[in-house]
Amino acid sequence: MTASLIIAVDGPAASGKGTIAKALARHYSLPHLDTGALYRAVAVAVIADGCDPANAGRAAALAENFPDSLLADPQLRSRQAGALASVVSAHPEVRAALLQRQRHFAAQPGGAVLDGRDVGTVIAPDATAKLFVTADVAERARRRTLELTGRGEPSDQAAILADLEARDARDSSRASAPLKVAPDAVVIDTTGLGIEDAIAAAIAAVDKAIG
Ligand code: DC
Repeated sequence: MTASLIIAVDGPAASGKGTIAKALARHYSLPHLDTGALYRAVAVAVIADGCDPANAGRAAALAENFPDSLLADPQLRSRQAGALASVVSAHPEVRAALLQRQRHFAAQPGGAVLDGRDVGTVIAPDATAKLFVTADVAERARRRTLELTGRGEPSDQAAILADLEARDARDSSRASAPLKVAPDAVVIDTTGLGIEDAIAAAIAAVDKAIG
């Protein structure tokens, strides 16, 4: 591959964007960054630190300094970490602390796949291909409940639905880099799609963008 291929995959929680991003990374032999894991790591660092999540300066200092090993911590995938990540990610100071790390990852030779909320709008606005992966919130709640229960965190689907609705509202309404569809993104609604069909739709969209 001569040109750099940067693929931005954005969308709300439990939409399937992570699965699709990983499959795209395999298909195009590119490195992959789950940017949500960075915000989840800040959330876990805030819990360990015991500071008030509303303390933007402290959360940003933790965002600058958490060890890479934290990204592999299973606690990142908990419901509590997801909810708190949505809170700390609304601080512009936290977003600024994580910006260069994400841009640096996107800029590596050959390109990269990044998934998150603001990859196509803020992190890599010149990405070769931009996807916005979404699904009905009820379907996303069903998937997230299965995922959490499968990992040994039994969860009530109605409570997960309420969590996701709160996160969607917070992630979309914040002033700094809100979740929104980039004007040049291809929207993939995975509500009625199986994993293989969703991945095939994503590959077709990227192939078309490459031209
Ligand atoms: O994708 P996820 O569920 O792991 O993300 C957790 C939270 O992190 C999400 O609710 C909002 C925040 N986030 C963000 O603000 N920007 C990103 N690029 C990725 C995640």
